[in-house]
Amino acid sequence: MTRPAEKNRYANAPRNADYTIDQMWHSYSAAEHDRWDRLYARSEAMLQDRAVLEFLNALKALDLSQSGIPDMAELSDRLEPLTGWRVVPVVELVPDAVFFDHLAHRRFPAGAFIRPEAEFDYLQEPDIFHDIFGHVPLLADPAYADFMQAYGRGGRRAMSRNMLPNLARLYWYTVEFGLMRAGDGLKIFGAGILSSVGESRFALDDPSPHRIAFDLDRVMRTDYIIDDYQQTYFVIESFQQLLEDCYADFTPVYDRLAGQGAIAPNATVPSDAVITPGTLDYFKQTKGSAA
Ligand SMILES: [Fe+2]
Repeated sequence: MTRPAEKNRYANAPRNADYTIDQMWHSYSAAEHDRWDRLYARSEAMLQDRAVLEFLNALKALDLSQSGIPDMAELSDRLEPLTGWRVVPVVELVPDAVFFDHLAHRRFPAGAFIRPEAEFDYLQEPDIFHDIFGHVPLLADPAYADFMQAYGRGGRRAMSRNMLPNLARLYWYTVEFGLMRAGDGLKIFGAGILSSVGESRFALDDPSPHRIAFDLDRVMRTDYIIDDYQQTYFVIESFQQLLEDCYADFTPVYDRLAGQGAIAPNATVPSDAVITPGTLDYFKQTKGSAA
């Protein structure tokens, strides 16, 4: 991925073999710390009745509300006693094999740069707000923490079987854009939603997207879009259930999926347990071709 050098000031930072860098925490400007504080305050307020309880509790347990951009080493010292995970700074998205290796060793690689003010509301690439605010709190939950490590181990097996696109869909529709059933409603746990106030509203309230009960094979067959809100959200029952569904070797799943075509992001199929069928109105208006 290329991007203007001024947007990510770590672009030329010396990288270790595992792609980690020095966060150089003292080099963040007052304006950058202030930007974090405003992003944090806005999202925390929005998520009080929308995020899963595990996330809200972890914000407090990890003391993420303290002022300014977190120092990843200090944050790791608070996280590690809970579940053994640490957060390590990187420049940007790392190669798949490197990413899986970090996860398999309970290290979450997080982008060190913070979005520019001009992209306060949305940016496509993961910055420190998306990675730390969106991803890290749930690593304090034991079941979620085990799931993420299992995902990393599964990544290496998927690469050897050329099933990476299928595994990536699992990550996308859970870790990034997952919903969870909570009582008679739904709550957010996906980092891509948690770190976007617009999508935090859209994913739960808008009539446009489909909301479908999580099914591993179904999710692994479903294409996704990366430049807009999701057309389908999948709903898990609990982190424990997700862990149990995904802890096993995926070899039998991959065998079943071989030769099966992909499902479009806006489609439903007869076997779906649809929770709320979407109108797809948003996508008809924005894309003109979603239906
Ligand atoms: Fe992410």
